[in-house]
Amino acid sequence: MQTTSAVLIRDLVKTYPQPHGLPPVTALDHVHLDVPAGTFTAVVGPSGSGKSTLLHCAAGLDEPTSGSVVLAGAEITAMKPRRRGAHRCAHVGFVFQEYNLVSSLSARDNVELPARLGGRRLPAAHVTEALERVGLADRARLRPHELSGGERQRVAVARVLATAPEVVFADEPTGALDISAGAIVLDWLAALPRQGSTVVMVTHDPRAAARADRVVVMSAGRVADVLPGGDEAAVAAAVLRARQEEVAA
Ligand SMILES: Nc1ncnc2c1ncn2[C@@H]1O[C@H](COP(=O)(O)OP(=O)(O)OP(=O)(O)O)[C@@H](O)[C@H]1O
Ligand SMILES: [Mg+2]
Repeated sequence: MQTTSAVLIRDLVKTYPQPHGLPPVTALDHVHLDVPAGTFTAVVGPSGSGKSTLLHCAAGLDEPTSGSVVLAGAEITAMKPRRRGAHRCAHVGFVFQEYNLVSSLSARDNVELPARLGGRRLPAAHVTEALERVGLADRARLRPHELSGGERQRVAVARVLATAPEVVFADEPTGALDISAGAIVLDWLAALPRQGSTVVMVTHDPRAAARADRVVVMSAGRVADVLPGGDEAAVAAAVLRARQEEVAA
């Protein structure tokens, strides 16, 4: 069987200009990456190694300086912003600490929003079930500012559960959660590939990363290593190596 890529990244570079004549910061330094469809990939690495930048560029939330990204079958780096936004809306879900929820909408309406923007209506029972699965059925009518950080993360997870987007990007999805809520969120993310979704998750937690099929280790804007999932100690050792390489460079 031929495997297709949900995300195909070629020679991706992202630099940020700096003021006062300082040299630009290179956040991504010629990154190549394939994310096979229907898999769970974790991205780890030291702080500042380019994980969030990679996710934002891969998801079409940010424009790279050069290189290409094919996301859900279309080259988003060749698209104008409006088309890229529409493509993202049709194919992508997010569990981010920012870009997360619309503040004027209730938790329930936030869960329904992507489908509504795509011209579909989710059955009410579907939305209720997704909120129940993350333990928030009794919070459905509240707006984001009335929820805790961890509850907001769980609303974002309910949203991807309800809409089952083709590709789900998560940046530190367990960062604001206690251990048991974090484990529940991870269980749901890890289960999404069985519904056909592809999951790409940035995390600092080697144990969370080890839940993935594959672990991509970033170091100084490059992919330093790609490991199979399953081995928390191997992930922690690879991150340590990446950090030592950055310090030595
Ligand atoms: N808007 C920006 N302007 C200038 N530099 C930036 C900007 N965003 C990110 N950077 C720089 O790019 C590099 C990569 O940042 P990025 O946020 O991708 O790191 P990260 O691996 O996600 O780190 P963390 O684990 O701390 O979240 C860092 O050196 C950061 O300072
Ligand atoms: Mg980050």
